[in-house]
Amino acid sequence: MNMVDPKPTAAIMAAESAAMASEAAPAEEPLLRVNRLRTSIATERGRMTVVNDVSFEVRAGRTLCIVGESGCGKSITSLSVMRLLPKPQGRIDAGNITLLGRDLTTLTEHQMHAVRGHEVSIVFQEPMTALNPVYTIGDQITEALLAHERCGRHEARSRVIAALREVGIPDPERRIDTFPHELSGGMRQRVVIAMALICRPKLLIADEPTTALDVTVQAQILELFRQLRDSHRMGLMLITHDLGVVAEMADDVMVMYAGRVVESGPVASIFNNPQHPYTIGLLGSLPKITERQGRLSIIPGTVPNLMAPPSGCCFHPRCPLSTERCVADAPPLAVVRGPHRSACWLAPLD
Ligand SMILES: Nc1ncnc2c1ncn2[C@@H]1O[C@H](COP(=O)(O)OP(=O)(O)O)[C@@H](O)[C@H]1O
Ligand SMILES: [Mg+2]
Repeated sequence: MNMVDPKPTAAIMAAESAAMASEAAPAEEPLLRVNRLRTSIATERGRMTVVNDVSFEVRAGRTLCIVGESGCGKSITSLSVMRLLPKPQGRIDAGNITLLGRDLTTLTEHQMHAVRGHEVSIVFQEPMTALNPVYTIGDQITEALLAHERCGRHEARSRVIAALREVGIPDPERRIDTFPHELSGGMRQRVVIAMALICRPKLLIADEPTTALDVTVQAQILELFRQLRDSHRMGLMLITHDLGVVAEMADDVMVMYAGRVVESGPVASIFNNPQHPYTIGLLGSLPKITERQGRLSIIPGTVPNLMAPPSGCCFHPRCPLSTERCVADAPPLAVVRGPHRSACWLAPLD
């Protein structure tokens, strides 16, 4: 594992100054507060806990980035918030998900319909999961609008055109009547974002929204998220593999491993003073951010099988610093400094 000290880069310094600017914001109730969430999935071999004791917050106008290798529970965390877990296998076993003061875990499916798209929306990596190939994009965005708001035909059409324009779709008066297959991947993702944002949700969850897109389109979509976050004080929960995106977008970072939070805190402390060996491993690629577009560094070994997780700290089989204590006991997520927390017996490492 690459244990080098991450060198400060322009991206991190930008993140640091952004973090300082946002520290001046007055404290207010977070939009979303997830408290000790535990989610499991039924498999042929029994029930598997895939999100374990996960807590975090997203504030208005702020971005939380969730990082971690594939299979760490990032998508299941966001699907839990949306109450869109795979059916019938997925189940929230414990915890609270408080959005705008209401615990979503207690709502009926009917009540959740009023929340989705209205208070919180989600955008996935693959736009075709959200688009129906047989309807025009205009019809689909109109449907999303009318699910929550009453408005006449003409008003709906002009709102949809305005939404398409807002997400950077050229010639929206004509494009509104096209079908998804007539658009490029980047344009389709913009349509999905327009659909997610048409009712101005307070919170947007974006699960690797730009992974399938080329770098230029990715930059444009992130810029759009940033504008909406700043102009409407929308909260953003952004799942990404790209550390460059984290440095550019995040106020706070949560690192997940094997369904648990291993480290979390303000972006500048995570980059400049990472405490968990897993985070340090992921950040191993940081000095090469520009060449490699900030992909997470490869850590030797593989993520554990969640049906039979390792004893003690789940990361111990891959950790170069592991001790007997790490094999025997799971470390709690403990304060490093201020809001920065790490679940490692060895922290603080500096
Ligand atoms: N529909 C499903 N059926 C069975 N297992 C699933 C399903 N969805 C996710 N999982 C499992 O849950 C764990 C967490 O998955 P996920 O949240 O998708 O990870 P990530 O988004 O971090 O890549 C993984 O072990 C994955 O195999
Ligand atoms: Mg995922």
